[in-house]
Amino acid sequence: MDALKILLVENIHPVAKERLIEEGFQVDLISYAPSEEELLATLPRYDVLGIRSKTEVTAKVLHANKHLVGIGCFCIGTNQVDLVTAKDVGIPVFNAPHSNTRSVAELVIAEMVSLSRQLGDRNTKAHMGEWVKSAEGSREVRGKTLGIVGYGHIGSQVSILAESMGLKVVFYDTVKKLPLGNASAMSSLAELLKISDFVTLHVPETPETKDMISSKELALMKKGANLINASRGTVVVIEDLVQALKSKHLGGCAIDVFPWEPASNKEKFVSPLQGLSNVILTPHIGGSTEEAQYAIGMEVAESFRRYLKIGSTSGAVNFPNVDLPVKQGTSRILNVHKNEPGVLGEINGLISKAGANIEGQFLSTDEKIGYLVMDLHSQHAQSLATDIGKLSRSIRTRVVY
Ligand code: NAI
Repeated sequence: MDALKILLVENIHPVAKERLIEEGFQVDLISYAPSEEELLATLPRYDVLGIRSKTEVTAKVLHANKHLVGIGCFCIGTNQVDLVTAKDVGIPVFNAPHSNTRSVAELVIAEMVSLSRQLGDRNTKAHMGEWVKSAEGSREVRGKTLGIVGYGHIGSQVSILAESMGLKVVFYDTVKKLPLGNASAMSSLAELLKISDFVTLHVPETPETKDMISSKELALMKKGANLINASRGTVVVIEDLVQALKSKHLGGCAIDVFPWEPASNKEKFVSPLQGLSNVILTPHIGGSTEEAQYAIGMEVAESFRRYLKIGSTSGAVNFPNVDLPVKQGTSRILNVHKNEPGVLGEINGLISKAGANIEGQFLSTDEKIGYLVMDLHSQHAQSLATDIGKLSRSIRTRVVY
């Protein structure tokens, strides 16, 4: 079989190219985000596309390139790809949702200490020639209570790191979670807010988390407590936060994400939080580290390897997730089909007609498609795949080994 050709655009971390070449794939690089026209002209030469957040993969591009085997978003978000169309034409889309978990957690820890010691303001003043040597209002974080809202990947990492610095950790999550270390689960958000010296938010952006922290919740927080938000900008009502800071009810805050964020580094950033004391503002850099970029390169390259070589779709955001071990001495056929009654019967009919012995068969479906992985003896694989591929409801059929 010819080596599959992969196009990586937008300066994806070089480790991805290295890994994919080691696996025997051909890889070409483009440093920028190609336009729709350029994708339409270029993609016919490739089997797989890797992008970051700026390349728009539209329905038009996908319909014109149904031969694409997979798409990888070397980032967290996937809304730059028309995921529904990608699924309709049988293309799984992968991303790297948790490669920057540790980076966010470390920033939160740094911010707790910074807020406790008013580092932001003292640093600014020192740069301006002001010498503010005073212990007033400066505290250790040791022995304080950290309230974590959303005890998922990031929240639980923060929990571990904070405990190792001597903080008492409480958390609130809508899903029952195993407390790590000595952390304790709170039965409500209100309960957490009332007892925490620091509150850090790690929930996803959903209708339920929109405006989750408004004047009512801020009023429940302890006087002098600090708020940290490195989740999503919609979670906190900024105007209410400004009031809580101006009235000195809150001691400070560190905000990394905003309801409105500039689209690029060239655009001016404007926020009502600017100029307030003990307020740390960062430009959505929670997950932006060299290590996270490296980890993203590794994670998506690994998803490509597993999908291209063994048909594993685990981690695909728009496809049924299937992850089966390799069965020695067999070949593997992958088939994506419309999820309609009778398709499996048609496929199995072709298999028995060919006299092929199925060593393993696994089907995973969602409301629109079925993803079928079949292991059988190699002499039958290629011809059977061709016949299965001709069925009217087959979307894509491929032999992986
Ligand atoms: P995750 O999905 O692993 O964890 C989220 C947790 O929040 C889950 O345990 C979930 O059950 C819980 N949750 C959902 N709704 C809730 C509610 N209403 N109340 C309480 N808990 C609720 O997500 P992960 O990876 O920990 O990310 C958390 C947030 O961090 C996301 O909003 C993500 O977009 C953001 N993020 C920000 C970055 C940055 O650069 N600042 C980088 C990476 C992620």
